[in-house]
Amino acid sequence: MKSFLDLDDLSADRLEAVLARAGELERRPLSDALRGRIVALLFMNPSLRTLASMQAGVAQLGGTSFVIAPGQGSWQLETRDGVVMDGDAAEHVREAIPVLAQYADALAVRCFARGKELGEDLADGVIRAMAALSPVPFVNLESAASHPCQVLADWKTLDDLEVPRHGGRFVLSWVWHPRPLPYAVPASALAMAARRGMQVTVLRPEGYGLPESVMARARAWAARSGGSVTESSDREAAMTGAHVVYAKSWAAPAFYGRPAEEAPVRAGLREWCVSEAWYRSAAPGARFMHCLPVRRNVKVTDEVLDGPRSVVVRQAGNRLHAQKALLLEMLAGEGA
Ligand code: CP
Repeated sequence: MKSFLDLDDLSADRLEAVLARAGELERRPLSDALRGRIVALLFMNPSLRTLASMQAGVAQLGGTSFVIAPGQGSWQLETRDGVVMDGDAAEHVREAIPVLAQYADALAVRCFARGKELGEDLADGVIRAMAALSPVPFVNLESAASHPCQVLADWKTLDDLEVPRHGGRFVLSWVWHPRPLPYAVPASALAMAARRGMQVTVLRPEGYGLPESVMARARAWAARSGGSVTESSDREAAMTGAHVVYAKSWAAPAFYGRPAEEAPVRAGLREWCVSEAWYRSAAPGARFMHCLPVRRNVKVTDEVLDGPRSVVVRQAGNRLHAQKALLLEMLAGEGA
């Protein structure tokens, strides 16, 4: 596997191998499997978990990493093709990616959605173009439409917690946020749960259904895995028997790229904040998941986040183990 742009890039057997190896690495974190290897980390957008877990993971495997954060000690980078570069960006990724690749054995990149054109962001063309420019293995650290490292860790978290793959009820719920957010995490979490064979409900207010291409991909995974994917705006019905609520906010597709027009619709939805009351009809011990960062008492109450349901810190911990396993798969394993 030369590029990991989406969880779909891992075949069923390699996914299971990576998950198993992630478990082994959690139990025995240190090795010299990447001794002498360098991983370049390019962060076009901010991060806490992804940046720290990648650097820590490479170090625990005996390798080295360096970080480029455009605009913070390095040149602003342009990602669009055919533009007249007379603005802030002094360098184009067409040069920057192959240059960095000469200094490293792998390249890992975060580049969020532009948030202007729905079709453009869903196509994930920017990260795909960057991967195509890289002669060395390439890892997506969150792009416009996908956050595969996050959901690889989330899959492990669900396995760790023994949430059933088949018959497990997974609610992906829209929650309020002051601004419209992109589809990378909800699209990836939905596809992951469907591929895992779970009974998935996308719970969202009217007008906030995920784009049809995102839903269609999840339904296709469910058809293959024996799972199911439905949508609802009925919270009580969606939560009945739920094992997991995975909270995330996203933009209303009809207003994509026009936040001012969406604002009045969004303003009336502040009660979409996960609280204990949501769990009335859920399965005993039902969990709360979120990729973090999370706004307390905006997306989820303190009570849920600080209580026994919340596994958000465990999810973040699994980023380390899962990404180490992925790097070994790409640089030193059977899939390399
Ligand atoms: N979940 C996640 O990717 O966190 P960061 O944005 O902090 O990296």
